[in-house]
Amino acid sequence: MELALYCPDCGYYEKEKDNLGRQGDFYTSVSVGSVFGELLATRLADWLDELDQKTGLNSPVDLVEAGAHHGQLALDILLWFREFRPDLLQRLKYTIFEPSRSRKAIQVRRLASFAENTAWCDRLAPESIRGVIFSNELLDSMPITRLQWHAGERQWREMGVALRRDEFVWSSLESPVSLPFETPGELLTVLPEGFIVEFSSVATDWWQGAARALHSGWLMTLDYGFESQYLLDPSRPNGTLRTYHHHRVGDNHLAAPGDQDLTAHVNFAEIIRAGERSGLVTDYFDRQAAFLGTIAQGLMIKPATFPPWTLPRLRQLRTLLHPENLGESFRVLVQRRS
Ligand SMILES: C[S@@+](CC[C@H](N)C(=O)[O-])C[C@H]1O[C@@H](n2cnc3c(N)ncnc32)[C@H](O)[C@@H]1O
Repeated sequence: MELALYCPDCGYYEKEKDNLGRQGDFYTSVSVGSVFGELLATRLADWLDELDQKTGLNSPVDLVEAGAHHGQLALDILLWFREFRPDLLQRLKYTIFEPSRSRKAIQVRRLASFAENTAWCDRLAPESIRGVIFSNELLDSMPITRLQWHAGERQWREMGVALRRDEFVWSSLESPVSLPFETPGELLTVLPEGFIVEFSSVATDWWQGAARALHSGWLMTLDYGFESQYLLDPSRPNGTLRTYHHHRVGDNHLAAPGDQDLTAHVNFAEIIRAGERSGLVTDYFDRQAAFLGTIAQGLMIKPATFPPWTLPRLRQLRTLLHPENLGESFRVLVQRRS
């Protein structure tokens, strides 16, 4: 997964071609339109105000976005700040956490008009951030480990990738391994032979690193996924790893490496635990529809801080909230260090 998505020469996410939105392979909330970024911006501004009230300081504040892809979410957020909160923008540093040089070049171009507010980094120093670290659809695109249940031996084995007659194929490794999250014993008695589950220690490590970087403020992610017990649902025997190409979902994971997206559900229970182990408190965990719906409702009573709800913008909101689009399957997790 790591090479297929992130190889500097041929990785899917390293290519200049835009793989999001109508012309690409899949939609994200960002590709729906600017309303998503604007709604988030109002919540980010509320949090930054709250931080000011607590510390009594009018000092510099941070927004750190990870996995900014083409920089569009950053642009939507910064444009809202320019229009509605120029006072905060004046002392706001918007840092993009971006390990890929080609992605950074694309983001720098898109955010040229905010050169004074923007910065890039590929690591976050401990306790360096006073503000909010956030990401949208980052954790689901991180490398995963796939495990398969061998019911007869009551063992999990890791699935590796082998080359057979010029084709990549999944191949079970010999040594048994343990699941890195708690599993009720009764569940194992009903899991069918060959049941597959994924986990991403890269995602949990990333979250812990981000938690450590937070001096004070919030860590937030929006992504699709659920808790461990749903990952072990016997009615979903093939795991959640899937491919996206031209808006078609597929399960031929090893075909066309670098030309299709690969993604797996986030195990939020593990992410929540990782944050709490690093001293964060969980503030919020719910569906995207509930999170954005509450923000939108609040704006109905203070419309002066938001662009007008024209028909196309209401349509965007509907797509973001509707259970059959992005509202139900996406989750929002917010943790905080006071
Ligand atoms: C699915 S895209 C994100 C979509 C984008 N946030 C949006 O909402 O449209 C995943 C992005 O995460 C970036 N990425 C991958 N690993 C990362 C890491 N360890 N830290 C930060 N960004 C990473 C990739 O370069 C890619 O741009």
